[in-house]
Amino acid sequence: MVATSEYILCEIQNGVLVITINRPDKLNALNKQTIEELHETLVEAENESDIRAIILTGAGQKAFVAGADIAEFANFSVEEGKQLSSIGHFKVFNFIENYSKPVIAAVNGFALGGGLELAMACHIRVVSDNAKMGLPEVSLGVIPGYGGTQRLAQLVGKGKAFEMIVTADMINATDAYKWGLANYVTTQEELLNKCFEITAKISTKSPTAIKTAIKVINAGYNTKLNGFEVEIEEFGKSFGTKDFKEGVSAFLEKRKSNFRGE
Ligand code: COA
Repeated sequence: MVATSEYILCEIQNGVLVITINRPDKLNALNKQTIEELHETLVEAENESDIRAIILTGAGQKAFVAGADIAEFANFSVEEGKQLSSIGHFKVFNFIENYSKPVIAAVNGFALGGGLELAMACHIRVVSDNAKMGLPEVSLGVIPGYGGTQRLAQLVGKGKAFEMIVTADMINATDAYKWGLANYVTTQEELLNKCFEITAKISTKSPTAIKTAIKVINAGYNTKLNGFEVEIEEFGKSFGTKDFKEGVSAFLEKRKSNFRGE
């Protein structure tokens, strides 16, 4: 059962789980406990077939997530730094990127450092017009450690990624949209509605096909795999699913499909 914990609020609406990172007094900075709770929530939600998509946002009006918790890592050693990064990758950032259901980031304010990295690990980003996004790590003498060096370049291209990372500059929502970092920009009031508009479309589609599509799109960014070969393989496998039989029957019978994710 998906449940609220100390730093993670959970609410299910029409088959969509809204996860709110809830540390507003620290601008929702990601400490170890938040990473852990977020991971547990995602694991629970993966097993609930009624949940078709996830919206991830931050509590309050000011921040999505203002980064990893600087106070917590201030005295870390080289080994602890490495561990912080690898646990984060494994439990949250790679975990979300490879999740079986679409995850939409509702970026409601500052998305800095680990906050922007979290938004970039999501499959879709909807950004409110007050948002400020950046990877300011070099200001602290570190580099982005939750996938930012890789995913920013994938989303905005190498040139803009270099610029954002080495200058540590924040960009606004308009530029984020222009550069492909934001799928949509809305007012803060409309942010969740825009996300629900997207999830409403997702919810009527085949969960098995969506899960496979996420896997295959990601395969193209995995240097150890050939995305086209994975696509051929997975395309073939789709023909063996009940969702495929249902989708095709519904089309031929001129009715709405009723996918069960099987
Ligand atoms: N880690 C830990 N605490 C953080 C934090 C972070 N990444 N970001 C903000 N906070 C805390 C502040 O320390 C402050 O706590 P306090 O009230 O106990 O002192 C609280 O959140 C509010 O932040 P504050 O800095 O007072 O707000 P602001 O409006 O003046 O500035 C920011 C907002 C986002 C510009 C500023 O908080 C900031 O630069 N944060 C760090 C961003 C960053 O470098 N992230 C990458 C980390 S790797």
